[in-house]
Amino acid sequence: MAEHTQLIDAINIRTAVRAYDNEPIDDDTARQLEMTLQPLNLIADLNIQLVRDQPKVFAEANASGHLTNAANYLAIVGPKNDDEAKERAGFYAERAVLAATLRGLGTLWVAGSWDRAEAARHCRVTGAQELYLGVVIGHPENHLEYQAKSYEELVEAQRTHRSTKTFEQFTAGMQQDERDAAPAWFKSGVEAAMKAPSAMNRQPVLFTYNAADDTAAAHIDPAAGDEHWALNDLGIAKLHFQIGAGQGQWAWGDGGLFIHK
Ligand SMILES: Cc1cc2nc3c(=O)[nH]c(=O)nc-3n(C[C@H](O)[C@H](O)[C@H](O)COP(=O)(O)O)c2cc1C
Repeated sequence: MAEHTQLIDAINIRTAVRAYDNEPIDDDTARQLEMTLQPLNLIADLNIQLVRDQPKVFAEANASGHLTNAANYLAIVGPKNDDEAKERAGFYAERAVLAATLRGLGTLWVAGSWDRAEAARHCRVTGAQELYLGVVIGHPENHLEYQAKSYEELVEAQRTHRSTKTFEQFTAGMQQDERDAAPAWFKSGVEAAMKAPSAMNRQPVLFTYNAADDTAAAHIDPAAGDEHWALNDLGIAKLHFQIGAGQGQWAWGDGGLFIHK
């Protein structure tokens, strides 16, 4: 892994991890994660918090076998009733997920597989805020074996571990000749978004390239049936796209434009 330290490398190997070793996140790793979270919270105007060693939050999912040894999480806290903040939460918390991936940690976004009320007891949520979602974080099961795997093995595991909508489905609003003529950065951006996590793997985001002004747009696909978490998943997909595209910046919102630099 040593030579694979870029965010695009993290995108290429990340998968949802549901089984963890019963080993705590040590203080040094926690400090490193906090150092990632602080600037993200500042830019994003969110309060993403690392909470360690609270297995009660995942008691049910651990007992049923859906999860194994889940005990630590990122509590994604932001302003109440704020759609743009929900999208930013997806974007910036996924940035933390990718940083954790590069440290050899496993992650899992959770909307349902946790006790949200119990989770809220261990973090700060002011009256003007809410706890949107969680991200389980920890050492993947058999983590020494996992860390001994080559980058290529992990890429192959990512590529084959789940189904994905096709490039054509992700760009359903485009004609084939428009796809063929789109620049390489657009194609790389969509390919990185195809590897993004989304609630129930619904992959609710569509991308188009507009040759007239050399921009990309990201839209929520209402047909994906992801009405609960679509804004979060839009933020996650935009981050992956931006990293895949190399350089550039999104405007927030459903239909927001990406300007490549
Ligand atoms: C907003 C959100 C909520 C999720 N909630 C859960 C959950 O409650 N339980 C679970 O097992 N997986 C959950 N997932 C993980 C998705 O099922 C997973 O990301 C998706 O199947 C794609 O697989 P991948 O992450 O391995 O690429 C969630 C993902 C997202 C983005």
